[in-house]
Amino acid sequence: MEIDRRKFLEQGYLVLREVIAREQLEQLRRDFEVLVGKQRRIWAQERGPDDPPGGVWETQPQPRLGSYHQLIDEGTASTVEVWLQESTLGVSRQLFSAPETVGMAGMMLMCSPVRDHGPARWHRDVHPIDMAPLSGLQKDLVENGPKYLQWNIPLYDDDVLWVVPGSHRRVNTETEDRELLADPRKPLTGGIPVELKAGDGVVYVNYILHWGSNYSPKIRRTIHGGHTIFPYYPDMSFSEHLPAEARALFRQWDKRSAALQDWTEAALRAVLKSDVAAYDKALEALQPGVGEAGKMVLSIYLCKATLHMQVVKHHDAKTNGASDPLAGITEDYRSRALRPHSISINWGPQFADRFTVEEAAALHSRFATLDRKLQAKEEHFAPSFQSSPMRYFFNEMPADFGLGEFIASWN
Ligand SMILES: [Fe+2]
Repeated sequence: MEIDRRKFLEQGYLVLREVIAREQLEQLRRDFEVLVGKQRRIWAQERGPDDPPGGVWETQPQPRLGSYHQLIDEGTASTVEVWLQESTLGVSRQLFSAPETVGMAGMMLMCSPVRDHGPARWHRDVHPIDMAPLSGLQKDLVENGPKYLQWNIPLYDDDVLWVVPGSHRRVNTETEDRELLADPRKPLTGGIPVELKAGDGVVYVNYILHWGSNYSPKIRRTIHGGHTIFPYYPDMSFSEHLPAEARALFRQWDKRSAALQDWTEAALRAVLKSDVAAYDKALEALQPGVGEAGKMVLSIYLCKATLHMQVVKHHDAKTNGASDPLAGITEDYRSRALRPHSISINWGPQFADRFTVEEAAALHSRFATLDRKLQAKEEHFAPSFQSSPMRYFFNEMPADFGLGEFIASWN
């Protein structure tokens, strides 16, 4: 498939026609419906005392199969294989800077709700608490290409998604902020629908301003997920159901994931030893060819990793004392820290087992200056982020504090 990478980087998304070939579509619809049936039975069983009989299926504006690969068997392996073909993985490999680093991230299916829920909110998929400020992510993208790319591939015609072309490269305009504050569920100036026929796809930078414009009962079965340079598979059992070639690919990515987790540890140990060369080598291994802006984003993610570890090591402990190990780590951060988010190199709570309590505390203090530089004195808020008001900067990178200053702050 011919890909215009320049256009993609400029507008932040690319619409691709017939990602799923016509003759493949019927089979995929059938196979995904089997998974929907399985998930609906699970939701019905898991429903709460006040929920309707179908549970999530009946209550959510966008019922979503969140990790459907865990539901597959040999008969429904096509639903995973669709992510590996030339028109999906092949395209992503052209859009990332280093094709050999691209692996599979989440595999989901977005479904229509049983009743009308209307429009969702415009947003960027950025939560500043455990990611980097938007302008840092943007610089990184220009310098190094994406770390993660998101896809929507509808099995039925779908124009629910809207985007503001080019908004992935900049912060919100004043007009956008004003409109978002007034009503985030209305069309935004400059926003356009992404009109997809069944089998078409859109690949996008997920910090573009985007919108689920209408969660109506009109049939929606849209494959959703993405490719990443930081793959992570806590449970690989699904791969046993895949044909040999697909299984081999996931095993290869799982091995790479293990190596990336080792390099994450190596980077943190380099900080403990104040070994600048080892730190640089580890960052280079995490993202081959990465430049200065990308290294700064990786350093911020590592900073978050040290906070995760403090939370994991101490979240059951009684705190509030003078030497509270969780002092300054906010409550909403604490819940985030316990869930893996591999695209910002959070490998889950078990990663903390690699370090002792003392090492985790030493790392926390080595990253303390950077953590402070990422925060304002007061809580604040910027519209369109997946966040409540907080002290972490939403848009701006630390002023006068780059990689050199960060390294100098270790001692
Ligand atoms: Fe989103």
